Parts: sequence; structure tokens; C-alpha cells
Amino acid sequence: MKKIYMVAGLAAILVFISLPLGAKKVRGPMKPIAPLMIEHRLIERMVGVMEDYVASTQASKKVNPAFVDMVCDFFRIYGDRTHHGKEEDILFARLAKKNLSDDHRKMLNRLIDEHVQARKMIAKLAQAGEIYVKGDENAGSDILNSLKAITVLYRKHIELEDKYFFIPCLQYFTKDEMDAMLSDMWEYDRSMIHVKYRDVVGQARDLIIK
Ligand SMILES: [Fe+2]
Ligand SMILES: [Fe+2]
Repeated sequence: MKKIYMVAGLAAILVFISLPLGAKKVRGPMKPIAPLMIEHRLIERMVGVMEDYVASTQASKKVNPAFVDMVCDFFRIYGDRTHHGKEEDILFARLAKKNLSDDHRKMLNRLIDEHVQARKMIAKLAQAGEIYVKGDENAGSDILNSLKAITVLYRKHIELEDKYFFIPCLQYFTKDEMDAMLSDMWEYDRSMIHVKYRDVVGQARDLIIK
């Protein structure tokens, strides 16, 4: 299983990096799970940074609020809206309509539930960050515990999707269905930068003192 996963991941990356910039349509044999697996690699890099940050801060419990803000922004915009968004709105939504095996149906429900847990964990981290900034240094431990919990959840979640879920699930789709999903994923990504900065404008307006 490990070998299949590695070969599929490598093939996905090779096909992805061979696409010219601005490519809009499905090219070659690229599968709709390829962009998701590539996104997993960046999420894993962030998780690695968080693990190192926790290890380096564990003794002092003195946290840099800018780090908490970066982690929250990364997981809200990239991890959740961009990545979980494509999984839930495109891949999972279309899978849910198929005649899935019991195991695959259970895994699908578990993955959706873990997305909900991840959102709650990020909200908890953001809240601890706000308390810490207000001067309550005890919140430093809560921040580190939240960071740890997020890394544990994401490592397990990504392993389940990459090794045991994504590749077997492709069997439920025709080639046309897979091409349509990939095309819809590109379109989804294209809109994300606009969604992000519409939010920023809204947040900036909220800072106006009334
Ligand atoms: Fe997921
Ligand atoms: Fe994922």
C-alpha cells in the first residue's frame, strides 16, 4: 500500500509541475486527488513548523502572538476554505452520491467530522491567542496545547486520506466525472484569492471606530 501511495503521489506531482502557468483545463492523466495531495504536502510543512515551534517554546511558554495569527490564517484560509472546501464541496459531495462500501462511507463521515474538529481547534487557538495578547500569560500553555492538538489531528487526517481513502475512491468515478471534478477544483481555487481579500476589506471596515 505504501509503495502505491508513493508512486501515485510522485506521478501526481510530476504531472502537476509540468502544467504551464495559467492552465485552466484538465491535462493528461491528472486525477482530481492530485491537487489535494499536493496541498497536503504544504499543510504537512506547516505542521512540521508548528511541532518545532512547540518544542522550542515548551520551556518558556512565551509565545509570539504573530505566530498564532499566522497559524490561524493558514488553517482558516488554506487548510479549511481552500483545501477542505475542495474536498467537501467537490470530491466528498460527489462521492456521497455513489454506492460506497460500508468502509468507505464510514471513512467519509470520519473525515468530514475531523474537518469540524479542526475548525473548532483553530477557533480555540485563536481565542487563547486573544487572551494571551491581553496579558494573561497562562494562556501560553493553552496555545501550545492547541498547536499540539492541531498537529496530531492533521498528521492522522492526511495519512488516512492519502494512504487509505483518495486512491480507492477513484474507482467510483468515470473518467469524465474525474475530469469535471478537476476542472471544478481549478475554478474553486481561482476564486479563493478574491474571497480572502473580500474578507480583509470587511475586517478592515470592522476596525473603524464608531
Ligand atoms: Fe480532509
Ligand atoms: Fe485533505
